Amino acid sequence: MKTYEEPAAIWDWAKGQREAGKSIALVPTMGYLHEGHLSLVREARSRADRVVVSIFVNPTQFGENEDLSTYPRDTQGDLDKLAAEGVDAVFLPSPATVYPAGYNTYVVPSTLSERLCGEFRPGHFRGVCTVVSLLFRMTQCHVALFGKKDYQQLRILEQMSQDLWLGVEVVGMPIVRENDGLAMSSRNAYLSQSERQQALSLSQALAEAEKMVRAGQMTLPEVLKGIRAHIESQPDTKIDYIELVDAQTLEPVSDFSEPTLCAMAVFVGKTRLIDNRVLVRG
Ligand code: PAJ
Repeated sequence: MKTYEEPAAIWDWAKGQREAGKSIALVPTMGYLHEGHLSLVREARSRADRVVVSIFVNPTQFGENEDLSTYPRDTQGDLDKLAAEGVDAVFLPSPATVYPAGYNTYVVPSTLSERLCGEFRPGHFRGVCTVVSLLFRMTQCHVALFGKKDYQQLRILEQMSQDLWLGVEVVGMPIVRENDGLAMSSRNAYLSQSERQQALSLSQALAEAEKMVRAGQMTLPEVLKGIRAHIESQPDTKIDYIELVDAQTLEPVSDFSEPTLCAMAVFVGKTRLIDNRVLVRG
């Protein structure tokens, strides 16, 4: 497994692969890898001749009061996991090489970024779109894999790749969960034992909602009320948002006639967790 720190070096590697007729799959990450990330790597392996994983805690997608400086890191552990998965190349750039002095260009998504996390994290998706378009170019990938854990991010990036003719197939993969249902996340490392227990209310509320919607007996406001009550019954939770939106357009809906995304961001103690589920009437 090769590691590269300079954009020009990964570019040369990718160019060589393309000239040899090899297809390239990219898995962009911010590191501190867990099984959710590795599920993307395995799918990448099955979709292309070469797999490149990027590890980059992207400063432009963090707000001023967010956790950029404390974001968990374990580069050696990550490299060991990626080597075991048979990854071909790892790209580990520094902020100064991705955004050199004088860097001046950003990619701004439109209406898909207005709601949900976009409303609560201004500028976040501008940072995500900018770095992902840079990573698409630097690695010259044919396909890129993203998790549905960050459902809104996935929809925005699908649209970006299509709108800007980036020529990258964006693939979305299912959320990987712990045995008890908690969605895997690098940020779970911040949780105390009690918070870890309370965090289960997110996935439990979503699973409950799924049953209700499938049974077709409850209206949308009733389902939303049930989800809120479940989460608020935990003492250290604070809801940032819980929304029911069209799974494709991310626009608010008033019933379950189309597949409906229930997306949420909830603080458990000081840690902001996200989770979601697509609810389909039975
Ligand atoms: P990060 O949070 O490290 O996640 C990298 C990828 O792993 C994302 O596509 C995310 O959706 C996926 N992922 C995380 N947890 C998952 C889980 N439990 N199941 C399935 N997939 C999961 O998302 C980012 O980094 C950044 O915004 C990035 C796209 C790298 C741009 O900086």
